[in-house]
Amino acid sequence: MTTERQGLHDEESGRLAMYREIQRSIPGLDTIYRLAAALIAAHASPAPRVLVVGAGGGREIETFLADVPAASITAVDPSAGNLALARHVAGNANGVHFVEGRMEDLHTDAEFDVATSLLVMHQLPDDGAKLSYLCAIRDRLGVGGALVHADVCFDDPDEFERLVPIYQAYARHIGASAEATQLELGTIPALPAVSSDRIRALFEQAGLASPREVFRSLWYRCWVSGHAPTSSKVLLK
Ligand SMILES: C[S@@+](CC[C@H](N)C(=O)[O-])C[C@H]1O[C@@H](n2cnc3c(N)ncnc32)[C@H](O)[C@@H]1O
Repeated sequence: MTTERQGLHDEESGRLAMYREIQRSIPGLDTIYRLAAALIAAHASPAPRVLVVGAGGGREIETFLADVPAASITAVDPSAGNLALARHVAGNANGVHFVEGRMEDLHTDAEFDVATSLLVMHQLPDDGAKLSYLCAIRDRLGVGGALVHADVCFDDPDEFERLVPIYQAYARHIGASAEATQLELGTIPALPAVSSDRIRALFEQAGLASPREVFRSLWYRCWVSGHAPTSSKVLLK
């Protein structure tokens, strides 16, 4: 755990700036982070316990610290480099606990009021890895807890090609850097992304409630879920 402000090398600063520029090039992507912050703020507890899965880059942490400073945050990411960026963004804020490792390997008895899983699962292959990831999150979600989940998602194979000119028009309109735009267009088709039906099936298999779609922009979608009504945690309550 660290809450110390850490300096970034030029290369890390460049990576952070590029990551933010790519996010800026997607219309409205900020809404996902603000929406998650709103759900945390709406929680009955004066100090909601928040699990940030895939904290790399610190995007969620930055928003939550600004919007819900009383929240206590556990931030998990297996990439030491990405976690360093998140630590940098958090500065010396109290109440942020960093854990280097995969969500699936998180050893804690803690339960969380809100978990965020933003732009992580689309990186995992659909060979059991996506399901194990969701099960690990479900296990750490308290009764009544909310999961905010965002992924790149395609319902048909031609969707990406159809959306590219729209993305390019928006990116040009806001003056997004050509490098960021090219990186986005190179990365998205290579992801092991799945359809919204498959995401719903994975949630059901993991014992999570059918996810409600709350945001969609180009190839990005965000859903809110929680324990399935039949999950053992809910039944035992
Ligand atoms: C595209 S970044 C998204 C970062 C941040 N959530 C955001 O929305 O800006 C995905 C992050 O998920 C992390 N990650 C990948 N697999 C993970 C896993 N199994 N458990 C937790 N984090 C994971 C990666 O290291 C990376 O930092």
